[in-house]
Amino acid sequence: MFKINDNYLKLQGSYLFSTIGKKVKAYREANPDKDVISLGIGDVTLPLAPEVIKSLHAAVDEMGEADTFRGYAPDLGYEFLRQAIAENDYKARGADIAIDEIFISDGAKSDSGNIGDIFSVDNRIAVCDPVYPVYVDTNVMAGRAGIYMENEQRFSNVIYMPCTAENDFVPQLPDERPDIIYLCFPNNPTGSAIGREELQKWVDYALNVGAVIIYDAAYEAYITNAAIPHTIYECEGAKKCAIEIRSFSKNAGFTGTRLGFTVVPKELKCGEVMLNSLWARRHGTKFNGAPYIIQRAGMAVYSDEGKKQVREQVAYYMKNASLIRERLIAAGYTVYGGINAPYIWLKTPENSTSWEFFNLLLEKANVVGTPGSGFGPSGEGYFRLTAFGSYENTVAALDKIAQI
Ligand SMILES: Cc1ncc(COP(=O)(O)O)c(C=O)c1O
Repeated sequence: MFKINDNYLKLQGSYLFSTIGKKVKAYREANPDKDVISLGIGDVTLPLAPEVIKSLHAAVDEMGEADTFRGYAPDLGYEFLRQAIAENDYKARGADIAIDEIFISDGAKSDSGNIGDIFSVDNRIAVCDPVYPVYVDTNVMAGRAGIYMENEQRFSNVIYMPCTAENDFVPQLPDERPDIIYLCFPNNPTGSAIGREELQKWVDYALNVGAVIIYDAAYEAYITNAAIPHTIYECEGAKKCAIEIRSFSKNAGFTGTRLGFTVVPKELKCGEVMLNSLWARRHGTKFNGAPYIIQRAGMAVYSDEGKKQVREQVAYYMKNASLIRERLIAAGYTVYGGINAPYIWLKTPENSTSWEFFNLLLEKANVVGTPGSGFGPSGEGYFRLTAFGSYENTVAALDKIAQI
């Protein structure tokens, strides 16, 4: 008789956004006259930039000609794209990353979930609390998280690092010693960012205790403050202890198009073994490449005109973020984030729980947001709004929130 991976049975609840979806559907059915606006899910709304579309069309035409048709992509991704990434995302920031340290993928969710394949099940992970749920769930699936402790809403073998207003939503170094540390800055869900010196502390700590940092920089394009590092490799020694994960989803609207990459420096070793070789093997064995057409579209993001166009898209969302911040503060809310990230993290009023505030917002303002408690126990009493809606919808939502 076959056996299942019973670690899957330890996964908690249904996915946060499907729970929200069900609640919103029920509300809409019961109130068909109400216009519900969602500032909940972190998906973009602007169409792809014209330069990206131009590249997509040209690449499609290439695929229709015998001379320019492409089959399987190289394991690590096309060199033209890896070269552009090395120059624009790293060299331009003073980080020397070689093109064979860059692995093109279909996005940051897959990479942040799959990276665990190259680590032993015996590693202890540390995550921020609240956290992007993929890091915890994929470690549960791998059998690395231990058992779920209902009362504490935590897994027994995971080190949770609370991120609350008291520490500016940047975790303190943990008391217990982790082997793998997940950090995400600018952060989803809290919208917080980490300064260069603070990030250097984490790099020094990881080097000191022999841990590896998985650094998710999916929201790097939203950084506005010059003191915030765009890549962990701006920190000294990071190439010896950090893997960085990036996405084209939030900087260039590729959420439905799918493109991302992971950097695994060759200096990052466990004894004599390079993690780069392990990830190359994993990538070559289990992944057959992001489509040529999409990698060409990714190239357009690095052209002069493409850069200008995607910067305008990010600015559009950040205008929403500023508006949400200002209007909520004016309405008396305590608000965080939204300055170097497209997420606004607010304290729920009058000590209401995250789900109580969700219900209030849905029923009184017909606005959908995301309960902070869905991202971890330290998210209780907080609430996330995203800046990814249209400007018009954002204004309309804020008008309604102001009337509660
Ligand atoms: C922190 C973080 N990492 C990764 C992702 C997923 O990115 P991608 O669309 O590239 O899979 C998201 C998406 O919301 C995210 O918030």
